[in-house]
Amino acid sequence: MPDFVGAVDQGTTSTRFMIFDHGGNEIARHQLEHEQILPRPGWVEHNPTEIWERTRAVIETALNRADLSASDLAALGVTNQRETAVVWNRTTGRPYHNAIVWQDTRTDRIAAALDRDGRGDVIRRRAGLPPATYFSAGKVQWILENVDGVREAAEAGEAIFGTTDTWLLWNLTGGTDGGLHVTDPTNASRTMLMDLETLDWDDELLSFFGIPRRMLPAIVPSSHPGAYGTTRAAGPLRGEVPIAGDLGDQQAATVGQVCFAVGEAKNTYGTGNFLLLNTGTEPVRSKHGLLTTVCYRFGDEPPVYALEGSIAVTGSAVQWLRDQLGIISGAAQSESLARQVEDNGGVYFVPAFSGLFAPYWRSDARGAIVGLSRFNNNAHIARATLESICYQTRDVVEAMRQDSGVTLDVLRVDGGVTANDLCMQIQADLLGVPVSRPVVAETTALGAAYAAGLAVGFWKSTDELRQNWQEGRRWEPQWSDEQRAAGYAGWKKAVSRTLDWVD
Ligand code: G3P
Repeated sequence: MPDFVGAVDQGTTSTRFMIFDHGGNEIARHQLEHEQILPRPGWVEHNPTEIWERTRAVIETALNRADLSASDLAALGVTNQRETAVVWNRTTGRPYHNAIVWQDTRTDRIAAALDRDGRGDVIRRRAGLPPATYFSAGKVQWILENVDGVREAAEAGEAIFGTTDTWLLWNLTGGTDGGLHVTDPTNASRTMLMDLETLDWDDELLSFFGIPRRMLPAIVPSSHPGAYGTTRAAGPLRGEVPIAGDLGDQQAATVGQVCFAVGEAKNTYGTGNFLLLNTGTEPVRSKHGLLTTVCYRFGDEPPVYALEGSIAVTGSAVQWLRDQLGIISGAAQSESLARQVEDNGGVYFVPAFSGLFAPYWRSDARGAIVGLSRFNNNAHIARATLESICYQTRDVVEAMRQDSGVTLDVLRVDGGVTANDLCMQIQADLLGVPVSRPVVAETTALGAAYAAGLAVGFWKSTDELRQNWQEGRRWEPQWSDEQRAAGYAGWKKAVSRTLDWVD
């Protein structure tokens, strides 16, 4: 058995390739950003061809850096930004349109119409999701309705759909020369088209969006030795490696954080925040604005479900301070600037740039900075931005407690923003529970590697994976209960000011 497992992590802003050893330690990586195409307010697109080229480049460079080749990899896992929709031609391999990204709000009318005539409730019940611009189905409908020739091609089986895992898997396994058209239940559970109980596409849900079944990939387990085929010698690995794992990135991070027991949860701080709580083999229906989603399905074992709190804008609010306001020159500076003040000085920032996701699901919300007085300065804005990341997380933790009865005794965290020490301290203070980050904070790629490695016997069991998890850093809450309650009341008031903004 070779000594390593590789993982492609195709994220919202960049694509990376990582190589791990048996202990889950990083051996090599390479990462490249791709363009964020913003044609109109609320629209966000990616070029799928650029993403595939970046994927090729990061694989080749990471292998070169580590002086490894395909024969050193026991398996390959894939993980991806979820929901983002690609439609391409299976004969030419060319996309019909740019990928429509999960943050894109162009389908707000499609989403709103679903709730007017009861279809929304069917989607909630069967797919576990509230109708929203976030999920893939409306994006596919938009492409079918707005790009010439796609509907006919879809009905003829020529135009096919996939999230970016499917797009990369198709290309890695041969593309126009017999590439596999597959996805896993975690990605399929983000489309509004899959029945959570059967793990199959649902004809009634497909009819709501006018999507022909022939467009859709086969749904196969997240961890499987044969279902994803092997890489081609002509591809970036220059050899045949079994592809044996595929998970949406937030579910992959849940696996990378070894949340295999009911009640275990992780929060990933990326462009947005995504808190997932393992709820076991029965889907738990949310009454408080959370999503019911597939957490993973390993081989022929029953699927494991999660409750998810998805927050659209967290790390990207820090980027906004840098790119749009220009008050910091890099993400790290948000911490030094925010440290110049003791507290938020009465300022709250609700970064509802894509409306508000969990637990509110209000596409009519837009961002607001409230509570300003002449006393306030850039440092208060920076501090309010970090607090917004943590208050949005608190909203989701509250919803999760109400839905599941689970009270967290520690919050496991990962992702880029966890490098911000002040932000993590604020998180512990606002929640009143300790926050814990593992030594290997690249849990997304690690989770995809785990899924692939489990399938081929590189790792024998989830118990073996648990041995790899080690705490790297812990933040203890320091605020009093009164401070916490007063701060949260201010946040709720600020949120109420952002609603009903768009007609
Ligand atoms: O649901 C969207 C999520 O999968 C995006 O994650 O880390 O690529 O921003 P990320």
